[in-house]
Amino acid sequence: MVSTGNPLSITAADLTVRRLGTPRLVSPMARFLRGRASSPHYVHESDRVLLDDTMAIATTRDCDVDGLPSLEPGGPRMRIFFNPATTTVGIVTCGGLCPGLNNVIRGLVLELADNYGVTEILGFRDGYRGLVGESEPMRLTHALVADIHNRGGTILGTSRGSQDPEHMVATLRKHGISVLFVIGGDGSLRGAQRIGEEADRQGYVLSVIGVPKTIDNDIPYIEQSFGFQTAFARATESIKAAHTEARCTPNGVGLVKLMGRHSGFIACYATLASHDVDFVLIPEVPFSLKGQTGFLAVLQRRMQRQGHAVIVVAEGAGQELFSYDGAVDASGNAKLADIGAHMREAIIEEFAANHADISLRYVDPGYAIRSVPANGYDAVYCLRLAQAAVHAAMAGRTAMVVGRWHGRFVHVPIALATATRNQVDPNGDLWMSVLEATGQPERFC
Ligand code: F6P
Repeated sequence: MVSTGNPLSITAADLTVRRLGTPRLVSPMARFLRGRASSPHYVHESDRVLLDDTMAIATTRDCDVDGLPSLEPGGPRMRIFFNPATTTVGIVTCGGLCPGLNNVIRGLVLELADNYGVTEILGFRDGYRGLVGESEPMRLTHALVADIHNRGGTILGTSRGSQDPEHMVATLRKHGISVLFVIGGDGSLRGAQRIGEEADRQGYVLSVIGVPKTIDNDIPYIEQSFGFQTAFARATESIKAAHTEARCTPNGVGLVKLMGRHSGFIACYATLASHDVDFVLIPEVPFSLKGQTGFLAVLQRRMQRQGHAVIVVAEGAGQELFSYDGAVDASGNAKLADIGAHMREAIIEEFAANHADISLRYVDPGYAIRSVPANGYDAVYCLRLAQAAVHAAMAGRTAMVVGRWHGRFVHVPIALATATRNQVDPNGDLWMSVLEATGQPERFC
């Protein structure tokens, strides 16, 4: 049972990936492996990727090297569990849109069809709704997915919210699915875990493999989620627009609101990419608006000195300034108060009260940052995640997501990937870079 975000509490058992059985069939990928266990492309079962990334953590564990927690590497195995000729595969995309969804679908289909010889691939529509019979799945072929990677969104459609696991498993059984790929964020991956558990309870042999998706980059132990790079690159354009407006207007203030519910990675990276931002507000660093060292007073001093300012606020920032009524969306996420609108009003009021004339330009790119096609980096990443996901599934792994750790593709148990949240560390080097780049104080209090 995975407990906390503290890496020291993670044990070898938390990192163990479930296997459905012994892989006995020679993999069609063996042709790339030159039939030798010593091939450089072959993944040895004894090969492991260390979890810890600092000597400080590793030495605190008080064990020898063999006892250090480690992850199973991704990649093709010599032997596989599922027979490609008799295996039917399902794919579903869940949750909010993210650049690269179509790339992952295409990558899965081409890897399955072209390299493993799987011919039966079904795409379930509209997220988990498609797994409770709300629509018929679509047959995915090489020809059908040929050019989908040039488009944003997902050809399968998506929706938020889970469905009854028994009902979903019944649908999978009806279609003879042996492998299900779930492309989704933390809520969807929890749903995938429940599907796997229900299949186990029924004694139904099903591999459930997650491909972690979120522009917020908030899934732990995967280094970076696909689509994040594309999303913050698009967000950078909005910052540039706000900066141009602010700089070319007397006493111009550019206020940019960016997605990022609980994690401020998009705000931080877009800020660093543009290097034109004066203040960044993220969910991980609470702030006060009022007082001599509060945000509004510091902003006024910057305006007096510089004549313009650009502020980036993540949508989940400053929620401590509001009272929360407990409302949640279909995925169980807290419905957030609108910090962007609140900041706009607060800034205008504060400057008016001080008889200072400002022109505030409010830019909210909203969904525009996540509905675009994947950029080159994400396109490569999506394809490689898809390849790793297919290798894992065909080898009979289950209840895991594919990710990247210390520069290697790895298998991460879903339970670990959904137990905590990846967030910007206010004491870490990313936030330090932001402070250096913006010149803002460490805290507004
Ligand atoms: O997927 C994460 C995310 O993009 C968040 O940044 C944002 O809060 C949320 O999705 C909004 O999604 P929707 O409006 O589709 O629920």
